[in-house]
Amino acid sequence: MRILITGGAGYIGSHVLKALGKQGHDITIVDNLSTGFAKAITYGNLIVADLADRVKIESIFEAGKFDAVVHFAGSIVVPDSVTQPLFYYQNNTINSHFVLSMCDKFKIKYFIFSSTAAVYGMPESGVCHEDSELLPINPYGQSKLMTEHMLRDLAFANKGFKYIALRYFNVSGADPEGQIGQSFPKATHLIKAACEAATSKRTHMDLFGTDYPTKDGTCVRDYIHVSDLADAHVKALQFLEKGGESQPLNCGYGHGFSVKEVISRVKEITGVNFKVNELGRRAGDSASLTAESSRLSKLTGWKPKNDDLNIIIQSAYEWEKNRPY
Ligand SMILES: NC(=O)c1ccc[n+]([C@@H]2O[C@H](COP(=O)([O-])OP(=O)(O)OC[C@H]3O[C@@H](n4cnc5c(N)ncnc54)[C@H](O)[C@@H]3O)[C@@H](O)[C@H]2O)c1
Repeated sequence: MRILITGGAGYIGSHVLKALGKQGHDITIVDNLSTGFAKAITYGNLIVADLADRVKIESIFEAGKFDAVVHFAGSIVVPDSVTQPLFYYQNNTINSHFVLSMCDKFKIKYFIFSSTAAVYGMPESGVCHEDSELLPINPYGQSKLMTEHMLRDLAFANKGFKYIALRYFNVSGADPEGQIGQSFPKATHLIKAACEAATSKRTHMDLFGTDYPTKDGTCVRDYIHVSDLADAHVKALQFLEKGGESQPLNCGYGHGFSVKEVISRVKEITGVNFKVNELGRRAGDSASLTAESSRLSKLTGWKPKNDDLNIIIQSAYEWEKNRPY
């Protein structure tokens, strides 16, 4: 297939690029390198461009004759979305609208979208099913949900366009071959921050909120290894190629760990007792979010290989120690 990957120089995009590249697809990557790295490009042809550059993006679509688009480009820091909502709606929703208008115009057949568990908001049980109520509690989740709505409506109107919106839970870990990983310096992701503290890249780490209604008062999340997530994209694309129906699908392991559990596991694995500052709650955080993702496995044959917190932390730590970019 001829595939366009937006945001392919970023953390998740670069792992999916590698997985799709290994399969021999002809890949073009568009990325403005705002949080991505040219060194993370292991396959295909990188075009440095911003999705807001309508003229350039249209010419890339025109020349590319793509069969599929995998859309990662966006902004992802939940607290920033609370303080800069319009920027998030611009980069995540308005730019996605433009990408979709290009897909419609240039008759793209398959579309995979990076959605998020944040579309669920605060489910009472903490467990999210694809059919659970969608009530995002921050502009980030809202910006992604609006894109899901556009996808649903476009697929209804244009029968030649099919999509999967993968709702990622907490993506973590790094490429087992050590070639790529998460490098954005001010990442807010828990395992990344803890590994930075363990390798003295930060003096300490902050823990936000110890009074949530969870087992130890800290937030519970479903951590999924980035390689398993990359494989979910490969499987989702194959599913659409075989005639599968457009829909959102959860990507998680179905069980969670609390922030305190993760921090103590990172300390155990790395042998470093880094400093942790316990602070108040952070705006936009839900107490608990875990996935019910049997639908993804059932429909696409996805089978996670790294459902083990130790493997996730070890790979993130190896990356952090040797980080080449
Ligand atoms: N990391 C997670 O845990 C997580 C969870 C749920 C959903 N997601 C979604 O997955 C996607 C990728 O996330 P990530 O963690 O790899 O983040 P990332 O910041 O590493 O990757 C985003 C990439 O998009 C590029 N980009 C951003 N805006 C752009 C624009 N206007 N034009 C061109 N390129 C642009 C950046 O340079 C970067 O390479 C995002 O859409 C995010 O919302 C991530």
